[in-house]
Amino acid sequence: MSAPSTERPLAVVTGASSGIGYELARQFVEHGFDLLIAAEDGGIERAGADLRRDGGAEVQTCQVDLATYDGVERLYQDIAQTGRPVEAIAINAGRGAGGDFTRDTDLRDELNIIDVNVTSTVHLAKRVLPDMVRRGSGKVLFTSSIASTMPGSYQAVYNASKSFVQSFSEAVRNELKDTGVTVTALMPGPTDTNFFERADMMDTKVGAGSKDDPAKVAEQGFEALMKGDDHVVAGSFKNKVQAVAGKVLTDPAKAEMHRKMAEPGSGQ
Ligand SMILES: NC(=O)c1ccc[n+]([C@@H]2O[C@H](COP(=O)([O-])OP(=O)(O)OC[C@H]3O[C@@H](n4cnc5c(N)ncnc54)[C@H](OP(=O)(O)O)[C@@H]3O)[C@@H](O)[C@H]2O)c1
Repeated sequence: MSAPSTERPLAVVTGASSGIGYELARQFVEHGFDLLIAAEDGGIERAGADLRRDGGAEVQTCQVDLATYDGVERLYQDIAQTGRPVEAIAINAGRGAGGDFTRDTDLRDELNIIDVNVTSTVHLAKRVLPDMVRRGSGKVLFTSSIASTMPGSYQAVYNASKSFVQSFSEAVRNELKDTGVTVTALMPGPTDTNFFERADMMDTKVGAGSKDDPAKVAEQGFEALMKGDDHVVAGSFKNKVQAVAGKVLTDPAKAEMHRKMAEPGSGQ
C-alpha cells in the first residue's frame, strides 16, 4: 500500500470523464479533495489531466469497464491500494437507451445498462461502505435521476434502473443512520451531457429540449452530499415541479407523460 503523500481527504468519482461526473470531480478538487476517478474509455486520462491543472489535487485515474464484475473489483483494488480512507464517493457512472422495448431496443445493450447503473452501484457500495462504517465517517452520493420517480415509456429499462438506485439509496441511508456515514441521492432532470446522444435520443422531445448545466447540477449535488441530505432534486425549477408531480400523479399518467417526452420522433 502506498503511503499518503498529502493531507487532503480522498474522494472517488465514477463516470468522471464527462458530464455530471466530471463536474462533481471538479467540485471535489475545488473543495480541497484528492481524487481517484474512473470511467470506461481513454477520456478519463484527459479528465485527470484537466483536473490536475485545476490545481493542488492529486488525481489518480482508473480506466475500467464497470459493467463487469472484475472491473468493479479492479476499481476497489485501486482504492484500497491508495492506503487512504475514502472520505466521499460519488457513484455516478451510468447510461441509458431510448426506444421501444419490445420492437426496437437491443437486449444486450439493455442488460449493459442494468450492469452499469444497478449492478456496479450495488457492488461498489458493498465494497466501500464497510470501511466507512468501521471508521464512523464517510459520505456517499448516488446519481439517481428524476426519471426514478416515473415509469419511463421508451426508456423503460433506464427509468427502472434509476428507481432501483433511488430506493437502494434511501434504504441504505436509513440502515446507516447513527453510524456517521451519510448517503445522498442526486436527482438531476435533463442535463446537457453526452447522455442523450449516447442513448440515441436526439430526435425526442427531451433530447432536443432545453437542459440544465452539468456544472450547476454537480454543485447542488456536492452541496447536498456535504450537508448529508437524503436527496436533492438538482437543476431547474421545472425538475422540482416534476418531482412534486411524481408524488401526486398515478403511474399510468406518468408513463403517458414520459411517452410524450421520450417517444422517438417526438422532438422533430
Ligand atoms: N444527462 C442527464 O439528463 C441525466 C439526468 C439524470 C441522471 N443522469 C445520470 O447522471 C450520470 C452521469 O451521466 P451524464 O449525464 O453525465 O452522461 P455522460 O456525460 O455520458 O457521462 C457518463 C459517465 O459514465 C461513464 N460510464 C458509462 N458506462 C461506463 C462503464 N461501463 N464503465 C465505466 N464508466 C462508464 C462514462 O465513461 P465513458 O465515456 O468512458 O464510458 C462517463 O464518464 C448517469 O448515472 C446518468 O444516468 C443524467
